Amino acid sequence: MDKTAVIILAAGQGKRMGGELPKVLARTNEGALIDHVLRTVTGLSPDKTVVVTGYKNELVEQHIVSEGASFGYDPAKITFALQKEQLGTGDAVRAGMTELKDFRGKVMILCGDVPLVKEQTLKNLIDIHVNEKATISLITATTDSPASYGRIIRSKEDGRVLAIKEARDCSQAEYLIQEINAGLYLVDSAFLQPALESLSTENAQKEYYLTDIVQKAAEEGQNIACHILPEIIEAQGVNTFYELQKISQEILRRNVEELIKGGVRLLDTNTFYCDTTCTIESGAQIGPNVTLLGNCQIASGVVIEGSAWIKDCVIREGAHLKFGVRAEEAIIGEGASVGPFAHLRPESVLEKDVKVGNFVETKKALLREGAKASHLTYLGDVEVGKNANIGAGTITCNYDGYKKSKTVIGEGVFVGSNSSLVAPVTLEKGATVGAGSTITKNIKEDALGLTRADQREIPGWSKKKRERNS
Ligand code: UD1
Ligand code: MG
Repeated sequence: MDKTAVIILAAGQGKRMGGELPKVLARTNEGALIDHVLRTVTGLSPDKTVVVTGYKNELVEQHIVSEGASFGYDPAKITFALQKEQLGTGDAVRAGMTELKDFRGKVMILCGDVPLVKEQTLKNLIDIHVNEKATISLITATTDSPASYGRIIRSKEDGRVLAIKEARDCSQAEYLIQEINAGLYLVDSAFLQPALESLSTENAQKEYYLTDIVQKAAEEGQNIACHILPEIIEAQGVNTFYELQKISQEILRRNVEELIKGGVRLLDTNTFYCDTTCTIESGAQIGPNVTLLGNCQIASGVVIEGSAWIKDCVIREGAHLKFGVRAEEAIIGEGASVGPFAHLRPESVLEKDVKVGNFVETKKALLREGAKASHLTYLGDVEVGKNANIGAGTITCNYDGYKKSKTVIGEGVFVGSNSSLVAPVTLEKGATVGAGSTITKNIKEDALGLTRADQREIPGWSKKKRERNS
């Protein structure tokens, strides 16, 4: 088998999108445009991957190096080539080839601003190239609004591809052609190298067009193969914010489709958002208005009723998230119940069968198996023992204005309602806190801690008050 190298063109500015960020760094709902292309390429395991940068090249390179791992590609496998001036796509590939001087094989050329192309499509391109013994293989699509895409010019006699013409260079008749160039190619290196040297800038944009190598191949009688996309969306490039939004919607649509096929039950796909980096097992059920971000792992049998924002959380089998949950970097154990209206902040760990009820906030909180905090509670910097019960209105006073301190609540502790636990403080196993207490000292095992003024009773006081005010 021939070797395969990939060149990704990413040197352009993206003037129509303001140009502050290089276009390939324009952000979709998750990741930048270039991240999607690089992740797709990873699936092909090429022998070499070269990214051609130019406009604000340091930004593009930094982005790839720092974001790659979290997006599922390995920056260490990527080489950068600098295109000093943006003289066109042909010149950009020339810059890329400086990193492939000794390479012999197939060169796949992709655009950093065409992020929706599927791995399978690129594999099909390789297959067609091999089967048709082609020198160049193209990906094309047909559309009734070909706009600024390059047009595929075919022979009237036998339909062979003769050339690609940029919209601005087309005659009136050519402009009407509905088959367009997706900007994704596979070219034999032995042909590519000299073909790039022969490019000129005699065209409307005074640029070196990569697309001109197609005409050269046709003139030399080389085979040119085409993979025609069934759906043009895969060829969608990005020049405007509107197109960027279309990309994001398509990424989400594909992800949702995969999840449903995988057995996830979604009550309302219109208000569900999920990053592709999340995993959801078959048999989970998710209601309307739910957002899942980052690296969420959701097990089978989990129910998320609706209106939840969840980032980087592990939610284990059979956990039940009631209406209105916001959770980040939390682990929600098997059979646990959260909400309605609960807020799990980073490093919250709820073990099996824990209950966190309405208007409860947790942060750096470990709640051991069966612990309960059912209503109106703040649990921060705390460990709560097995089967402990935290009464309504309990607050861990973890911050003295300068530093955070820890509260340790032992197994089976019962904290009465409306208590303040002033950290650092330890309530030993089996202890009880009387309702309304402010606990500043440790409580021993099985003891009662109580800080409460004695109740007084003044007979008839209320009646007298009523009489005075009527
Ligand atoms: C290009 C194709 C067009 C095709 C379209 C598909 C050419 C001449 N035209 O047009 O036939 O239909 O893609 O999306 O190739 N770039 C560089 N350096 C440069 C110029 C561009 O790296 O000097 C990069 C850009 O960052 C971008 C890619 O190449 O990622 C494509 O460039 P762009 O200017 O978007 O070309 P199109 O006009 O879209
Ligand atoms: Mg483009």
